[in-house]
Amino acid sequence: MLLRPERKGPVRAAITGVHGYLPDYVLGNDELARMVDTTDQWITERTGIKERRILKGEGLGTSHMAAEAVRGLLAKTGTRPEEIDVLVCATITPDFVLPSTANLICDMVGMRHVGSFDIQAACSGFVYGLDVASQFVETGRAKKAILVGADKMSNMIDYTDRTTCVLFGDGAGAVLLEPSDTGAGLVDIELHSDGSGMKHIHQKAGGSRLPPSAATVEARMHYLYLNGPAVFRAATERMSASVREIMTRNNLTIDDVNWFVPHQANKRILEAIADRLGIPHDKVMMTLQKYGNTTAATIPLCLWDYESKLKTGDRLVFAAFGGGFTWGSAYLNWAYDGAKAAKAAGKPRAFSETPAE
Ligand code: UT7
Repeated sequence: MLLRPERKGPVRAAITGVHGYLPDYVLGNDELARMVDTTDQWITERTGIKERRILKGEGLGTSHMAAEAVRGLLAKTGTRPEEIDVLVCATITPDFVLPSTANLICDMVGMRHVGSFDIQAACSGFVYGLDVASQFVETGRAKKAILVGADKMSNMIDYTDRTTCVLFGDGAGAVLLEPSDTGAGLVDIELHSDGSGMKHIHQKAGGSRLPPSAATVEARMHYLYLNGPAVFRAATERMSASVREIMTRNNLTIDDVNWFVPHQANKRILEAIADRLGIPHDKVMMTLQKYGNTTAATIPLCLWDYESKLKTGDRLVFAAFGGGFTWGSAYLNWAYDGAKAAKAAGKPRAFSETPAE
């Protein structure tokens, strides 16, 4: 387990802006029901998902969505590209194995001479990335850091496999991190991994163990393999334990926390965690009904979606679980008036107020 030592200095890394990008194409449950043997009723009851977004267009990869999110973030926060010191991209669907998607995003948005690299921790990528990117800010090595979680899951989903194709969507979410000495920012974070979980969620071919070949393509080994029930159990148990641990360590009661921001995999997982911990459901951010599981993008997309409801000083607890297994949680104090920022951006996010039914 990777814990943080008690803070020595007063400087924390605070999220000072958030933005997202979702492709236009909406893949609804009814369309999926025409592709595989499923129904809107099964998907809704077993997952809570009604629709997800799919990135269409030749030659467009994860960097396209991430760059859109970052461009919007810069515009919204009045930040010039040259002010950014480091950009971290969490993704499992990079445009290329080489170079990193972070490098491409920087080039696309006009950031030159900036440190940039990718992090791969599947659905926990944003929490892992938050730990890494915030350390640049806390140590004074970066005045402004961007963390973007982005995944084009539609590229690794087998749309003939009903057990996985209903779950995932494409999207990107980005946050700006800056130093704060007001008490706002990241207070605590913990990371875990257990590589024995590999058997339950992985891509069989395409890496150095089993490089791509005509045979691996023919055997359909480049798609996501998921043992749903095993991952469901592990996600529920380990996210619950991690949230309980970070709250205990920081003397937080459920009443102290304004928002729980869990990775969006399945509505039943989120409700099971909330019920185990006694968290009222209206404190749990939920966007999966609209976007499905967008892997590293789920948590920043939640923040974007709920931005107008976030108030300065709100206490937030993030939790994530994904392939690896990887999981973790973070506790932070919100740094700004979200309603004001969302309004100034001219496009208040309110999908969370109008869930798809
Ligand atoms: O982000 C981290 C990665 N992913 C996750 O966290 C996903 C975690 N797992 C889950 O969300 C759930 O396990 C699933 C949604 C994937 C599956 O739900 P489940 O309640 O665990 O269903 P199951 O896999 O136990 O399958 C129950 C039945 C099976 O039929 P039989 O064998 O009982 O006849 C499946 O074949 O449901 C069937 N089924 C479907 N039926 C209609 C599986 N997928 C579908 C489908 N439509 N799309």
